[in-house]
Amino acid sequence: MPDEPPIVTTRYATAADARALADLAARTFQDTFAADNDPAEMARHLASAYGEDQQGREIADATITTLLVDADGALAGYAQLRRGPPPAGVPREAPVELWRFYVDRAWHGRGVAQVLMQQVIEVARAAGAGTLWLGVWERNPRAQAFYRKSGFTDVGAHVFMLGTEAQTDRLFARPLVP
Ligand SMILES: CC(C)(COP(=O)(O)OP(=O)(O)OC[C@H]1O[C@@H](n2cnc3c(N)ncnc32)[C@H](O)[C@@H]1OP(=O)(O)O)[C@@H](O)C(=O)NCCC(=O)NCCS
Repeated sequence: MPDEPPIVTTRYATAADARALADLAARTFQDTFAADNDPAEMARHLASAYGEDQQGREIADATITTLLVDADGALAGYAQLRRGPPPAGVPREAPVELWRFYVDRAWHGRGVAQVLMQQVIEVARAAGAGTLWLGVWERNPRAQAFYRKSGFTDVGAHVFMLGTEAQTDRLFARPLVP
């Protein structure tokens, strides 16, 4: 039944998920950005950012937390939190970056993103973070709308390199205090 709400669960990625995560990550990046970007810059970014070895290293990296979301038993999205110094403009209260947040197209608008975001917030809080921040492309209105309804506000801008092309990301942040 296509309109039934899916059964949605989250879990931490393990080494065994590297291949499936790499495929999902490359596909969702392409689905989201290919129509509005230069194919050569897309290809450069895809080659440097995604692949079984690359996602395997990220899953093993102690400064990165990789969460997966399953819908009706199939991998439907992922999120990655990354610790590190934030850019200017982000509130200084124990910040953690929501580095990547992607839901497969078939599951957009079906509540999967909300479950994943709730888990991201719980995991970040449990790790002692006080601020969740992220960069979102200035030309990605759907993601911006989702982040705003998830409690984020626009706190500035920074540069994202797509291959060799400098693009403007809006910086969004939200407090994690209960
Ligand atoms: C961003 C993402 C996780 C949000 O999940 P989702 O299930 O699509 O989110 P929702 O449908 O609950 O919310 C999206 C909102 O944007 C709105 N929206 C849809 N298209 C829009 C557009 N072109 N312009 C502005 N708002 C738009 C929707 O109406 C909805 O708001 P509403 O609930 O008030 O109607 C998902 O769309 C996704 O994975 N996108 C591709 C990857 C991506 O962009 N990731 C973020 C990288 S920073």
